Amino acid sequence: MFDPVEKLKEFVRHPSVSTDPAFAEGMKGAKEFIAGLLGEIGFDVEVVPTALHPIILASRGGDESWPHVIIYGHYDVQPADPLDLWNTPAFEPEVRDGRIYGRGTADNKGPLMTHVAAVARLLEAEPDLPLRITFMLEGEEEMGSPSFGKFLEDYRDRLKTADLVFMSDTGIPSKDQVVITCGLRGLVLCEVEVTAANSDLHSGLHGGVLRNPIQALSELCASFHDDRGRVNIPGFYDDVLDVEDWEKDELKKLGGNAEAYRKFLGIPEFYTPQGFDAFEAIRFMPTLEFNGIGGGYQGAGSKTVIPSRAFVKISCRLVANQDPVKIREQLYAAINERMPKDVNYRIIDDHEGTPYVVVPPDRPNTPTEQSPVLAAAFRATDEAVNRVFGNPPLYLREGGSVPIIGDIKKVVGLDSVLLGLFLPEDNLHAPNESFDLEVMERGMQVSEQVLRKLAGR
Ligand code: BES
Ligand code: MN
Repeated sequence: MFDPVEKLKEFVRHPSVSTDPAFAEGMKGAKEFIAGLLGEIGFDVEVVPTALHPIILASRGGDESWPHVIIYGHYDVQPADPLDLWNTPAFEPEVRDGRIYGRGTADNKGPLMTHVAAVARLLEAEPDLPLRITFMLEGEEEMGSPSFGKFLEDYRDRLKTADLVFMSDTGIPSKDQVVITCGLRGLVLCEVEVTAANSDLHSGLHGGVLRNPIQALSELCASFHDDRGRVNIPGFYDDVLDVEDWEKDELKKLGGNAEAYRKFLGIPEFYTPQGFDAFEAIRFMPTLEFNGIGGGYQGAGSKTVIPSRAFVKISCRLVANQDPVKIREQLYAAINERMPKDVNYRIIDDHEGTPYVVVPPDRPNTPTEQSPVLAAAFRATDEAVNRVFGNPPLYLREGGSVPIIGDIKKVVGLDSVLLGLFLPEDNLHAPNESFDLEVMERGMQVSEQVLRKLAGR
């Protein structure tokens, strides 16, 4: 059996930044490394080419009567910038105080390695285990999975032979409190560019005869929220469902300290949609955020100019039952209606993601048609977490997004058991990302026990 931490170090050394073509070599290295490792532990590895980064399908077949689990993970990572804020180089992993540091250690190479190691250990102990396993690893998660939709269509029939997806790409509040994630938010992204005059203008020579693009954009942006902190787009909340009581109770068990959270963020006051506290807002409500805004003079000192161009990048996080296509239409309709007629503008599409929700077994609103294998996987995960972490898991929705999980449900009909593994202090997408090695070891035990149980052993 290989050493999981050493293998994780090797994996992290490949700088697999999917969004930046300069990292093509790192993408190739990470793909070959993980495909090779899965081959070494006895899997049939297929590298599925896509328009950009390949998807790895590695399977351990078997009798059709055996349960079939897909384990999802992503081998791509976020850019490591800003590099100067890292204490040690992002792609030179290092273990300090029980954590492994490096870009992608938590999101998602560490959690993925956790499952690979669990499977390796399990199959070494039980070479005849009656369980089919398919690793489905993607290299475009951090850029919105542009190739995954086509892959799902092409491989639908093969993926349909599975009973569920088992994976770890979500968080937990502390080392002793695991969360099984029951919902992920969806996404709609776009950019709005406003242009006015043909070039930047002297604001004395021409000021007073045209609307400044920054003003036009600011007026538009200011219109997107009302005085109750809600998104001010007609129809935006139409498809948001009421949250079940058990979900609110589960959130209460989490016992978040709002004041501590506020201080952690460093904000003077929360700003949430009316009727929702901070913890509820993240999990139960959609948002519209400005991710970046620009235009005009950005240098030192001042410059009397009317810029010719301004832009804003917008993203909406969606909750279960909201349709990204519909929300995009509503957003664009609002932009088209509200943009002043005295400027030029265009809307640039960016990617989107489907929201996801799954109800565990034995809840008041568990779907009657829920598959027995899925229910068994939830129960096995619950028991294993309780044994290994010393506490039963909480069942919570998450504010983040893994859009392909909703797509897998929509296209293939499969639900996912999302075993959270990364901690708030893991610094996902930020400098000094790390992954706790104790959580990794515990996660391996949980994964191994769940898979063993699914095989009926
Ligand atoms: N692993 C994260 C998603 C995540 C983060 C789940 C925190 C739970 C808590 C994933 O890799 C990610 O960052 N997703 C992106 C979406 C993507 C389309 C860029 C996100 O949520 O912004
Ligand atoms: Mn991730």
